[in-house]
Amino acid sequence: MNILLLGSGGREHALGWKIAQSPKVEHLYIAPGNAGTESIGENIAIKATDFPAIKEFVLRNNVDMIVVGPEDPLVEGIYDRFTNDPDTCHIAVIGPSAKGAQLEGSKEFAKEFMQRHNIPTARYKSVTSENIEEGLSFLESLEAPYVLKADGLCAGKGVLILPTLEEAQKELKEMLGGMFGEASATVVIEEFLSGIECSVFVLSDSKNYKVLPVAKDYKRIGEGDQGLNTGGMGSVTPVPFANEDFMEKVRVRIIEPTIKGLQKENIVYKGFIFLGLINVKGEPMVIEYNVRMGDPETESVMLRVKSDLVDLFEGVRDVNLDKKLLEIDSRTAACVMLVSGGYPEAYEKGHPIKGFEKANQTDSILFHAGTAEKNRKIVTNGGRVIAVCSYGDTKEEALAKSYKVAELIDFEKKYFRHDIGFDL
Ligand code: AMP
Ligand code: GLY
Repeated sequence: MNILLLGSGGREHALGWKIAQSPKVEHLYIAPGNAGTESIGENIAIKATDFPAIKEFVLRNNVDMIVVGPEDPLVEGIYDRFTNDPDTCHIAVIGPSAKGAQLEGSKEFAKEFMQRHNIPTARYKSVTSENIEEGLSFLESLEAPYVLKADGLCAGKGVLILPTLEEAQKELKEMLGGMFGEASATVVIEEFLSGIECSVFVLSDSKNYKVLPVAKDYKRIGEGDQGLNTGGMGSVTPVPFANEDFMEKVRVRIIEPTIKGLQKENIVYKGFIFLGLINVKGEPMVIEYNVRMGDPETESVMLRVKSDLVDLFEGVRDVNLDKKLLEIDSRTAACVMLVSGGYPEAYEKGHPIKGFEKANQTDSILFHAGTAEKNRKIVTNGGRVIAVCSYGDTKEEALAKSYKVAELIDFEKKYFRHDIGFDL
């Protein structure tokens, strides 16, 4: 079959790498892709949210399945748009309906959903400029630090954690005053939860589900989890604390009520559910839902999926995921992200990347994130540039391999964290 994968990051290179291994695939297109995805399929210069151009492309090229990488097209309703259109309704879309995508598109919707279905999460209050006074007094009822979340999508920047009540009250007013535009017209105030986080990925066909390998990502730019938040500086899977006992709690208290809750509310969900969890003294609680795979978790998780991913996607399409096999590699996989100096603040683009020949002689796998081809050379084209991923029998072994290759790849102002996995 012919598949169109939407997106352009390391997540999409990793998904595409796995999709391309399937004997079921005739042609893989990636829109818009990056310099790395060009080696596993054909890049198409179409934005992942340009629905009219996507429609024209899929019809002209007999595409059978659209796999959606990032959240924007999902929140903007790509699933409904293509499945409700008589011209494109024969094409499977792997991703939730617009209503389902609200689990990520609106923090308020997600909190209300969890409340309706008794899914463990932090206490909260949702406020707008209409009831700001209630918000200010809810903050007074909480203990420091304080968590404020813009309701809408903010490219990962919409969460503030403030150390004092004064700062929290001031920032609440600023958020409601338009700090993140329309996205912060509603703000969710949350109780702060203390614990270690992990990412659980569930593939749902709306009725059945499969749980993918659990991963941990490292969001801060600096070692020891210090400094600004980034898109993610590395990832490791499996996560030792997410043991059988913990995962049984996750299944019973979080995954099952989520899938059943979606069904009960008639929300079509044929795609990935990303549970951002926190382990509070052995009890899993939901920090956030995302409606896509994580980046850079996907880069290590895909290494551990042994089964044919396209076969699983067919199970999603045909609502018979229960008949499909998901086999997991027992080894550890670790990913180290090479980023442009300055990221997540201002950084330069267009620096040539060297060392691919040497890296290709190792058994590490490189997934491109922000790269582009210019004058037949591969150059940096984003903050996160390349994810170096490796297998190992232990976390230490996988990381040591990735770090060796991280040194072989070179570009001006390259930076990476040397302590991925330090807390596991
Ligand atoms: P989010 O965008 O919802 O993933 O939030 C970004 C990060 O903020 C999370 O990965 C957590 O590290 C942190 N965070 C969010 N909500 C809470 C909370 N209620 N308690 C503690 N940390 C939180
Ligand atoms: N790695 C976290 C995310 O993709 O949102």
